Amino acid sequence: MEWSELEAKCAACHGCALWQTRTNLVFGTGSRTASLMFVGEAPGEQEDLSGIPFVGAAGQLLDKYLEAVGIAREEVYIANILKCRPPRNRDPLPEEQDACIGHLREQVKLIRPKMIVCLGRISAMRLIHPDYRITKEHGQMVKKGAFLLTAVYHPSALLRDASKKEDMYRDMKAIRDTLRTLEAAEPQA
Ligand code: URA
Repeated sequence: MEWSELEAKCAACHGCALWQTRTNLVFGTGSRTASLMFVGEAPGEQEDLSGIPFVGAAGQLLDKYLEAVGIAREEVYIANILKCRPPRNRDPLPEEQDACIGHLREQVKLIRPKMIVCLGRISAMRLIHPDYRITKEHGQMVKKGAFLLTAVYHPSALLRDASKKEDMYRDMKAIRDTLRTLEAAEPQA
């Protein structure tokens, strides 16, 4: 599948009811040849209004971590498990995730990243394993097929609990170091 076909498919998707209440589809943004991909859970209010993932308060905090470890936002790709905002930012329902996950898989197939970083528990439970414990397992790298998978705290968890920020900084530095090693071993085509 090509990007244009996938975008058209997402725009026309009625796989769950969220298309009825969204303002904009939040497809994903960034480099389509990225080595590093971030996956959050679902668009929030600012994302729904703009059509761009991670632009609200949580997104601005994510930008700060990217800058702090020397990763440009333009060099990565950022998407979510859900492409449409759940009303009042409730957690995505399992059936909404089931309906939407295929779009993310197509994005991963097109990008072929070397590493995928789950932002938060919901994304990690979906992409790494269903009983993922973010407090215990964040920062651990697991090999899955052609890429490495890891998870970090969701930036909105850091906004609620500043004591997690040290762990986030450590994880982000390790992600950068691993990424640069992978890139040096095998430059992205
Ligand atoms: N939280 C998410 O998980 N995704 C976004 O795009 C914004 C906030």
